[in-house]
Amino acid sequence: MATGRFLVFEGLDGSGKTTQMTRIQNRLTSIGIDVITTCEPTDGPVGALIRDMLEGRIFSDPRTIAALFAADRTDHLVKPETGVQDLVKKGRVVLCDRYYFSSYAYHARDMDLEWIITLNSLNTQIIRPDLTLFIDVAPETCLARIRAGRHRLDMYEKIDILKQVRHNYFTAFDRLKDTEKVVTVDGNASEDAVEQSIWQHLQPFVKFRIESDMR
Ligand code: TYD
Repeated sequence: MATGRFLVFEGLDGSGKTTQMTRIQNRLTSIGIDVITTCEPTDGPVGALIRDMLEGRIFSDPRTIAALFAADRTDHLVKPETGVQDLVKKGRVVLCDRYYFSSYAYHARDMDLEWIITLNSLNTQIIRPDLTLFIDVAPETCLARIRAGRHRLDMYEKIDILKQVRHNYFTAFDRLKDTEKVVTVDGNASEDAVEQSIWQHLQPFVKFRIESDMR
């Protein structure tokens, strides 16, 4: 029976993770592997509320945002048919732009990491990624890319904050090294080189598909 895969892309804002996820999706599609891409915050009702808060349209408190992200994530996982859990059970390969490591990195600026881990414990029980790919790019580079691409910056996109978030990612990777499979890719190189590096790490996780599709 087909086994699905849940593969997560993480990184700072401006790290190129969305670009790389699209490249990997195209690469998998070109060799006949049908993938589903998704992201957090989601485009569902909780995700919409989160975006209103991140972009300052409605009042928010860091604790409320952290709790909403955990709720948005549960909704993302357990929705019937289109939820990640069902898709993976049905044997699909799901690529996801951000997952709970984003919560551990972004919300640990204001709250204790252990509290955020506890807040997300239900989500870890529902599904852990087969692989989390962290695209590591210097915060200065990320900010320059964000500034070149957009006029409006959301509340996380300042240099000190990006530095802190990057530090928090590594703290969380270390804290959870016994339970999570995480690979860090140097994202400072050219887009082609970064893609190639991601592909090397990801290939073993989709190998079963490549082999079964070639039979
Ligand atoms: P994202 O949609 O990846 O950013 P962009 O709009 O640039 O594509 O994520 C929006 C923001 O949400 C990003 O700054 C990171 C933040 N975030 C959290 O704070 N906690 C979380 O759990 C997640 C998934 C994202």
